[in-house]
Amino acid sequence: MDIKQLMKELTTEEKIGQLLQLAPFHFIKDIEMEVAGHVSPLSLNQDKIFLAGSVLGIGHASEMISVQEKYLKKSRHKIPLMFMADIIHGYETIFPVPLALSCTWHESLIEKVARISAVEAQTAGIHVTFSPMADLVRDPRWGRVVESFGEDPYLQKVFARAMVNGYQNNDISKVGHVAACVKHFAAYGLSEAGRDYNTVDLSRSSLQNNFLSGYQAAIEAGAKMIMTAFNVIDGVPATINKYLLRDVLRKQWHFDGVTISDYDSLHQVIDHGCAENDEQAALKGIEAGLDIEMASTCYINHLTKHVKHDPTIEILLNQAVERVLILKKDLGLFDNPYKGADVKQEKCIVRAIEHLEFAQKVAEESVVLLKNDQTLPIENKKIALIGPYATSKETNGPWSWHGNNDFNLSLEEAFIKAGSEIIYVNPSHDPKTYDEHDCLMLRQADVIVAAVGETTKQSGEAHSRSQIELPFGQEKLITFAKTLGQKVVTVLYNGRPLILENIQTSDAIVETWFTGSMGNQAIVDILTGKVNPSGKLTMSFPRNVGQIPIYYNHLNTGRPKIEGIDNEFVSYYLDVSNQSLYPFGYGLSYSTFDYKNLRLSATRMTETETITASIDIINKSDRGGYEIIQLYLRDYVAGISRPVMELKGFKKVWIKAFSKETITFDITKDMLGYKDENGMDIYEQGRFKLMIGKHAEAVISMDFDFIKE
Ligand code: NOJ
Repeated sequence: MDIKQLMKELTTEEKIGQLLQLAPFHFIKDIEMEVAGHVSPLSLNQDKIFLAGSVLGIGHASEMISVQEKYLKKSRHKIPLMFMADIIHGYETIFPVPLALSCTWHESLIEKVARISAVEAQTAGIHVTFSPMADLVRDPRWGRVVESFGEDPYLQKVFARAMVNGYQNNDISKVGHVAACVKHFAAYGLSEAGRDYNTVDLSRSSLQNNFLSGYQAAIEAGAKMIMTAFNVIDGVPATINKYLLRDVLRKQWHFDGVTISDYDSLHQVIDHGCAENDEQAALKGIEAGLDIEMASTCYINHLTKHVKHDPTIEILLNQAVERVLILKKDLGLFDNPYKGADVKQEKCIVRAIEHLEFAQKVAEESVVLLKNDQTLPIENKKIALIGPYATSKETNGPWSWHGNNDFNLSLEEAFIKAGSEIIYVNPSHDPKTYDEHDCLMLRQADVIVAAVGETTKQSGEAHSRSQIELPFGQEKLITFAKTLGQKVVTVLYNGRPLILENIQTSDAIVETWFTGSMGNQAIVDILTGKVNPSGKLTMSFPRNVGQIPIYYNHLNTGRPKIEGIDNEFVSYYLDVSNQSLYPFGYGLSYSTFDYKNLRLSATRMTETETITASIDIINKSDRGGYEIIQLYLRDYVAGISRPVMELKGFKKVWIKAFSKETITFDITKDMLGYKDENGMDIYEQGRFKLMIGKHAEAVISMDFDFIKE
């Protein structure tokens, strides 16, 4: 397809149509779909609907085929529709939610999750996925932390890149490969007070140093699209923000792919108070560099007027449309508009046995053991199961609309399948409903497993909470269980770090998040010891809501609190410590690892040199296990205040029972810089602190000097 020639043949209205994205029910009325936003009447006539360039959300191959067929019949130039959808952590084989995926600290595993998701999604004719979400997060009240990779810029980078590689697999023209749309550009994760869609206010320096890394890495990995955020940056909605869309994205990052608004977010600039009406919003959108408008109609209804008035707008329109058509061409849609959509293939590819087996492995690595007073693993013991998640199959979590929880095993079923002895089950969360007979049964068990948590609807988009303890009074269930004198293992199902101070009476606490299609099989294997837990947190767990935002890579302040030194006039709280309950990088294993003998190949490095840090990790236990060894750096003195520590590398290594591994990390110049407020890399000489450890609050350190010659 000759795109330049095609452009010449299109009318202005046809061009503008390419920038319109609509839900499939506009084309075929009886299609069912989940939309993440209100469905407002779009005041579109049939002619305009059939000018649209892309579709948001599609169910299955048959639906895609019928929408595409109907569309192409009416379309003058037979330009195929491009189908996009939220394939966030799997299509029908559901993998752990992204926050859980990040707790694997396993790049290639995450890449394969995206690969399988693409292969399955493509059978429905999906061409673009609205993933990865690379929003750095610091506030667990925000429901969308469940979709994120946590609080660290380095991990954002590694995992966003892995997902793009997995989805696109270097060549989006092939069947089984989908284009990645990284989102939400930018800094949506900083929604004030954790309330979704709320305003964002941050410095350019923090934007550049903390919040952009994931989007940038996705673009560098070749992501074909980027979605704007709902929030403002410097007071200007991201959807019409020239600084973001032109200066950062096009000029600094040389992005030549397609930009898309979030659902209705171009229209919403009116509510932001940055446009009087859709007509003005359309002008601001095209001037800023917004290509596709999702689920609102500012462009389709108003852009023609602007084009007529101002030839520069026509140039901008042409650029945007060309980008969209090039993406369609790159996806191979002009050759085959139904690419991938295959009703028969769909049946044998989705939920293939090897996909499910892999989903179980991923789930095993996502689970984080938070506490274990010699209670786990439960081997050959009589188990009583209580709490709502004892019998619930809801392990898919938010954003899994193609997945079906009914296919999943409940915890009870998974225990039974694994041959464990379950002597009592009660899904109630309310201690008042447990009578004497129940208590008798519970006392007969060796261990009580309390399966508790949030519902799927308590995290995710538009699902923020201001109190983030266990909901529905489930804390009382744990307190009650402990009064019976048995060991109590609390198994948590939830989409965010919760406040867990009140359930510390539990003998063991296991954070499982939402682990997907094979979640409970994985959880049982961990509880019974078949699998050794290895997940580590990527978000700090606060002790109370007042500590939020709490994150490990904070600045030092001018009056830092130094543990052990009593001083009233420093930065601290009267009523709670500065430290999190469970820090970034934290997670227990059934093995015991000791870190010893940190050394550096040299304590001085120049710009052209690399030095090597080594450390010995000793597994003192009789179980082999994975350990995630983390390397942090601190730049003591710089032109701007730098964080007290920043993750710069990690290794996930299997260490055999009673054995030692020496782990090495190269320290290179690019780990020592920071960004100025324009995004330029700055390297300053001086002293750095090297820290290696099992989590952010358990490190061994030594200093070295970086010299610029
Ligand atoms: C709104 C969400 O913010 C975004 O993440 C999603 O991709 C779109 N809706 C499309 O469903």
